[in-house]
Amino acid sequence: MDSTVRALLTAGKGILAADESFPTIGKRFAKLGVASTEENRRAYRDMLFTTPGLEEFISGVILFDETLRQKTSGGVAFPEHLAGRGIVPGIKVDLGAADLPGFPGEKFTQGLDGLRERLAEYRKLGARFTKWRAVIAIGEGLPTPAALETNAGSLALFAALCQEAQLVPIVEPEVLMDGDHSLERCEEVTAATLRVVFAALARQGVQLKSMLLKTGMVLPGKEHRRQGSTAEIAAATVRCLRRAVPAAVPGVVFLSGGQSPSEATERLEAICAAGTNPWALSFSFGRALQDPAMAAWKGARENVGAGQTALRETAAANHRAILAAK
Ligand code: 13P
Repeated sequence: MDSTVRALLTAGKGILAADESFPTIGKRFAKLGVASTEENRRAYRDMLFTTPGLEEFISGVILFDETLRQKTSGGVAFPEHLAGRGIVPGIKVDLGAADLPGFPGEKFTQGLDGLRERLAEYRKLGARFTKWRAVIAIGEGLPTPAALETNAGSLALFAALCQEAQLVPIVEPEVLMDGDHSLERCEEVTAATLRVVFAALARQGVQLKSMLLKTGMVLPGKEHRRQGSTAEIAAATVRCLRRAVPAAVPGVVFLSGGQSPSEATERLEAICAAGTNPWALSFSFGRALQDPAMAAWKGARENVGAGQTALRETAAANHRAILAAK
């Protein structure tokens, strides 16, 4: 696990989240008029993973169960192809969010049943790290203590099971951007969430040195009237993490959560530049890395080169953003 953590946190590199579930990839393909067939999903991920030079900017890729079992057009299993280029293959292991009973507007994450057996299989298939996402909504009276505790408990059990299987867990409590809350409210909820999560991880005996935290940047709600400057967002994000993330955690990686690629990169740079921290900071974007590539691809084989150029450019921009701070 030590060498996986080190590889994932190689200076200047980040993680590509390409672990969209069937419903999520289906929605993104539908916008382009591309059918979500097994072959189209394979062809799209093949384009991403065979991008020339990707390993200069990307240290790891989070795959989906189906993708872990698929092959490049050249017939090499995706995990083997990535590992051969020095990119660590990982896997999303949660089974998505469901309504939390008794708490309208809140969710809990499914997938603990049978997880030990699935992890053993994923390791055999080449995965070296994992991800589990919990979603926390901000609203009138939300999040409730029930939602925070339930999600933190599942994240802790997930992380402990992964470490038992010698897989590095990425613990991801995502505070959603939906709503009209202020930057201050997001900071308060993110700090409260992280405190509950780290208390649960400690109770469960999770080794902090062998995990990564994946979190959102501290941002005002999408509908809030004041969107806040990059400097304010960076200051709030760094202050919140310093208050709530133990120094023993080796790295914190950001999700993009619905920000545009340019916003995510600009804010990442400002966050990384905001002083020194006990943990490494990097990116683990899904949409902010993939959107330009998917738009250039449009489901057509003749656009693969254009899609790869777009992915390389977004990955390089985020690589420069992290290094600019050094
Ligand atoms: P986004 O960067 O698109 O939010 O996706 C990252 C991710 O892995 C969410 O679980």
